[in-house]
Amino acid sequence: MTCCGHCRDADDFFSERTARRDFKRYLHRGPDKQTSMLVESIRKTGIKAETLLDVGGGIGAIQLELFKNGLMKSVNVDASNAYQAVSKEEISKRGLDGKTEYYFGDFTSLAPLLPEADIVTLDKVICCYPDMKKLLQLSLQKTVKRYGLVYPRVNRFTKIGFWFVNFWFRIRRSEFRTYLHPPSLVNEIISNHGFRQTSHQTTLLWQVAVYERM
Ligand SMILES: C[S@@+](CC[C@H](N)C(=O)[O-])C[C@H]1O[C@@H](n2cnc3c(N)ncnc32)[C@H](O)[C@@H]1O
Repeated sequence: MTCCGHCRDADDFFSERTARRDFKRYLHRGPDKQTSMLVESIRKTGIKAETLLDVGGGIGAIQLELFKNGLMKSVNVDASNAYQAVSKEEISKRGLDGKTEYYFGDFTSLAPLLPEADIVTLDKVICCYPDMKKLLQLSLQKTVKRYGLVYPRVNRFTKIGFWFVNFWFRIRRSEFRTYLHPPSLVNEIISNHGFRQTSHQTTLLWQVAVYERM
């Protein structure tokens, strides 16, 4: 799949070293706090025999956690080869190849090829993509029941943090950038697609929101 400059540089940034480090951390400590909050909110609603589409799934923590709770099938889409390689390796080790599909590239280009899913998740993904509206619209169209996302809060900590991170990318001449999209706009787009929010939690830097189709 051909990627835009942004996604090509995402592939560079989410490198093999980063992927191995993240996966090792996951094996030792489990999913990070925000991912655990998202998984728990989804788990509470019951997930027996459901399907998942994890956009920007990274090392695949969400699918690994939900498979423990009866998830039937997962589709993992990511613009990082390294993350997907690590994720595929673990899925094979656990004998879950038959239940998992991988698509590499920009989700917004791949969307027409992808199946709908009961649950769609975007865990720290919209903050890695310039066209948040397109990413949300296309992923919402794939959602049969529940939609979960983790994205940054807009406060002085994230504003300063994201500015430094983007400065670092500029120095490295990378086209990859991080984005603080306005939460009210994110919520409005999701609501306008016929979803209502069923849970919303925050940490210092992140918000974790789950919606269901009305
Ligand atoms: C910060 S990482 C988060 C990974 C994982 N969801 C987690 O929480 O550990 C963002 C991920 O989104 C992926 N990504 C960003 N924009 C994407 C797009 N348009 N299509 C597919 N994947 C994308 C990146 O390649 C990266 O793996």
